[in-house]
Amino acid sequence: MGEHDLIDLRSDTVTRPTPAMRRAMAEAEVGDDVYGEDPAIRALEERVADLFGHEAALFVPSGTMGNQIGMRLVCEPGQEVLCDADAHVVTYEMGAAAAVFGISTRTVVSDGGLLDAGALIEQVRPRGDWHLTATAAVAVENTHNRGGGRVQPLGELERLFAWSREAGVAVHLDGARIWNASVASGVDLATYGRLADTASVCLSKGLGAPVGSVLVASAERIAVGRLWRKRLGGGMRQAGVLAAAGLHALDAHLSRLAEDHEHARLLAKRLGVDPSTVETNMVVVDDVAAPVVAEAAKARGVLVSQVSPRRIRLVTHLDVDRAAVDRAGDVLADLLDR
Ligand SMILES: Cc1ncc(COP(=O)(O)O)c(C=O)c1O
Repeated sequence: MGEHDLIDLRSDTVTRPTPAMRRAMAEAEVGDDVYGEDPAIRALEERVADLFGHEAALFVPSGTMGNQIGMRLVCEPGQEVLCDADAHVVTYEMGAAAAVFGISTRTVVSDGGLLDAGALIEQVRPRGDWHLTATAAVAVENTHNRGGGRVQPLGELERLFAWSREAGVAVHLDGARIWNASVASGVDLATYGRLADTASVCLSKGLGAPVGSVLVASAERIAVGRLWRKRLGGGMRQAGVLAAAGLHALDAHLSRLAEDHEHARLLAKRLGVDPSTVETNMVVVDDVAAPVVAEAAKARGVLVSQVSPRRIRLVTHLDVDRAAVDRAGDVLADLLDR
């Protein structure tokens, strides 16, 4: 079996650009973006800023860079960002907030990554105390990756944001999969956007672009973000070929995310997983011998990720059609004896 026959359910980051996306990339009008002269990047930044109701946007190479610059824009070295214990920004970003920016992070255990605004607010530490590390910002992830693609409840996001205005604490949104949240909940992107001071959104997850994320914020903050991007080596030149993939993804792949969600529900049903836990494109299967199942599934052409020794995760995406979902469901149901 060749590499391309594998059904890869490890993540939605594994998609390959479609022929139409490659054409859009090939035809992109480009320039030197460090000089601010790349038309495709400018178009993408304007479009994404508009979608989220923010003044400005910055194209960055990865979600990690978007999150880390986003947090740095609202938190000084020696201050802290507060977030849930399973958040991507503290779990999977190599300790960047501390290692790169001198930002302290503190975490609150949550139920499946879901925001409990009250519980988070309770942990916030004020500025101006002689001893305390001041909480400058809170970070929220929507959808929540380690939470299995759960969508954050709008009421909790609103509660947190309303409080944050009073408290002078900023809100950063890790919106790597905010598109999935919006399609699943029907809450529009601008609503999610107005509930955050800085938001990083990814083009290279469910939207299927090969590279790239966009950070949105006020024009003043994005101007500073541009300096940080350059310092970090993220100033790219004729990267409009990448922005063109993102623009194409917004045109062609946004509304189809509903299909991925339907596929995830079908997989869950086939594997006896409670469908109410499947809100977007991820299925979490617990109480299994993850390494054994992953190895056996691979031998039969299905790749899954091992989140912990007893948990596997399946993610549906652009490169997994209904036939592949059915085939993967059969293989996994057989292995899991379901
Ligand atoms: C929730 C979340 N945030 C941020 C990222 C980081 O994105 P990148 O891999 O582009 O750095 C990911 C990556 O999967 C993610 O799942």
